[in-house]
Amino acid sequence: MTAAQRIVQLRAELERHNHAYYVLDAPSIPDAEYDKLFRELQALEAQHPELLTPDSPTQRVGGKVLAGFAPVKHAVSMLSIRTETDTEASGATNFDTRVKNALGREVEIEYACELKFDGLAINLRYERGVLVQAATRGDGETGEDVTQNIRTIHCIPLHLTGCTAEVLEVRGEVYMSRKDFNRYNEKQRELDQPTLVNPRNGAAGSIRQLDPALAAKRPLSFFAYGLGEVKGWTLPATHSGILEALQSFGLPVCADRAVVRGAQALAGFHQRIAAKRDALPFDIDGVVYKVNSLALQQELGFVSREPRWAVAHKYPAEEQLTVLRDIEIQVGRTGKLTPVAKLEPVFVGGTTVSNATLHNEDEIRRKDVHIGDTVIVRRAGDVIPEVVGVLAERRPAGARVFVMPTTCPVCGSHVVREEGEAATRCTGGLFCAAQRKQAILHFAGRRMMDIEGLGDKLADQLVDENIICSLPDLYRLDVATLADLPRMAEKSAQNIVAALEKSKQAQLNRFLFALGIRHVGETTAKDLARHFGKLDAIMQASVEQLLQVPDVGPVVAQSIVDFFAEAHNREVVQQLRELGVHWQEHEGVGDHVLPLTGKTFVLTGTLASMSRDEAKSRLEALGAKVAGSVSKKTDCVVAGAEAGSKLDKARELNVPVWNEQQLLDELEKQVNGS
Ligand code: IVH
Repeated sequence: MTAAQRIVQLRAELERHNHAYYVLDAPSIPDAEYDKLFRELQALEAQHPELLTPDSPTQRVGGKVLAGFAPVKHAVSMLSIRTETDTEASGATNFDTRVKNALGREVEIEYACELKFDGLAINLRYERGVLVQAATRGDGETGEDVTQNIRTIHCIPLHLTGCTAEVLEVRGEVYMSRKDFNRYNEKQRELDQPTLVNPRNGAAGSIRQLDPALAAKRPLSFFAYGLGEVKGWTLPATHSGILEALQSFGLPVCADRAVVRGAQALAGFHQRIAAKRDALPFDIDGVVYKVNSLALQQELGFVSREPRWAVAHKYPAEEQLTVLRDIEIQVGRTGKLTPVAKLEPVFVGGTTVSNATLHNEDEIRRKDVHIGDTVIVRRAGDVIPEVVGVLAERRPAGARVFVMPTTCPVCGSHVVREEGEAATRCTGGLFCAAQRKQAILHFAGRRMMDIEGLGDKLADQLVDENIICSLPDLYRLDVATLADLPRMAEKSAQNIVAALEKSKQAQLNRFLFALGIRHVGETTAKDLARHFGKLDAIMQASVEQLLQVPDVGPVVAQSIVDFFAEAHNREVVQQLRELGVHWQEHEGVGDHVLPLTGKTFVLTGTLASMSRDEAKSRLEALGAKVAGSVSKKTDCVVAGAEAGSKLDKARELNVPVWNEQQLLDELEKQVNGS
């Protein structure tokens, strides 16, 4: 085979894997294999520079720095759509009525429903299936050439599969997922670098970045939702047909879409999406309804540069302006002092927010937040609200600079800020009431000791009244003491004592997690329990021995050693055991393999005989990994009642699917067999 032939072959293969990974979310080869192919292609291209083309997968990393963006005149204008914020029911009915009136007939209309992605509109121009240009919307007539930066977005195909149209312009939205946004910001915070205000700015900022290598560092994604100029391709009859075709060409099209008939069904889509908005992996600002038939779209035409056949219905904004009245300090379980903004209450992201995190001292400096400022508050997804920026031009004369306290506002102990750490910490440990409360709440948590009924209010009372000074005091509580507390009935007191009693029958991994050792989360606790099998073995383990546990690194190992080196921590464990907390110990597995080691399961739907958490821990006890989403790497999907999209995905990828009985049989077999 000639170098030229091998290059063509490698490019096609890499693109296929790229599509599987970034669009289907179903990796087709291990990362290391991909890297090997990638490096082979890079080497060949270096030996044969004449064969290097801009559409090679090696060119996704970003080329040379640009002086500016060249203007691009759009072959077909990029228009926007009418946006409304009325209630879902009236908005849908009004739109449906407008469409019927404009058509002059009383027929049931079919609509394509989509999400309104909150990013940046982009036009991708493919000629004979090759990406030749990408442009921003600009003023709708002329945009900017951002081809270099768009090439760095891995889910955008450089070649279309099965599309040889002379010209196919694909329109859609470039966006940054919430996960990528949070990860990026966390990293920036650690490096003491500026953070992004929101994913939308993240996407827009990266696309308009003149250095493509910098753009490549910011992870972006894309969803296609329409077409621009088309030559040499016969259009399907419907909008939904277009989206299906685009998907078959290898373009990412969002799965959360529907084809429905009539106004009521539109409102239903609006409601269904509103209910899952927080759980979506990316920001949306509403839904879009489009008349599905292209013939009807043509008939409807445009009014003042907006199509009559489409409308966007907005949801409540996820960012709002409000006034920051004060900054208070919250002390967390590990003693971390978090500055919290006390806000003039504001309705944002569907709820009223009066507190928002400011993360740490450096963040306050970097964002230049003063007390009295008008600030931008963001609440998106299920994450806690945060102050993302200030409107400095609105700063009042009396605005004050915030100063981090030098002593803990809860217990008065001095605070420290370790070298290279952004966090300031209280040194009071369990002497600090705030840390004690958080430690109790953590210990009692559902995934830890699972003490039902022990919530914030009770933890506050128990600590404030000095009833509980350390964790073992929990198991010294009796009904009389509890029932004596204000607003506590005899019955609730009995329930709590019963819950405490029940929690004594513990599991080693949960107990370890419950102790609140720094850097030991749920997964690490499981790994430790599995590896050592006995608590004493963990308590006596050296850093070197701990490093033998998969996924335990030096920081975690040191933290565990430090924790058990403290006499009072060993005392806590000792007392808890004396008070009756116990678990089953076993010989550590060390490097042994459990029956389901290496197998990845996904649970979906409702199981009748146990909770999903229980199913998860039983599978994990046998060595299985339980993942949240289905990919080609999934070995088995367990589907309970009303299983949804994960089941569809499993079928699509030919992943074996079990029902509940099959799961129970397997659990039984493995437990008895081993
Ligand atoms: S269709 C002629 N569909 O919202 C119709 N737009 O004004 C062209 N957007 O900035 C737009 N999600 O980038 C359409 N599913 C979707 C969309 C969407 C987001 C953006 C678009 C533009 C604005 C529409």
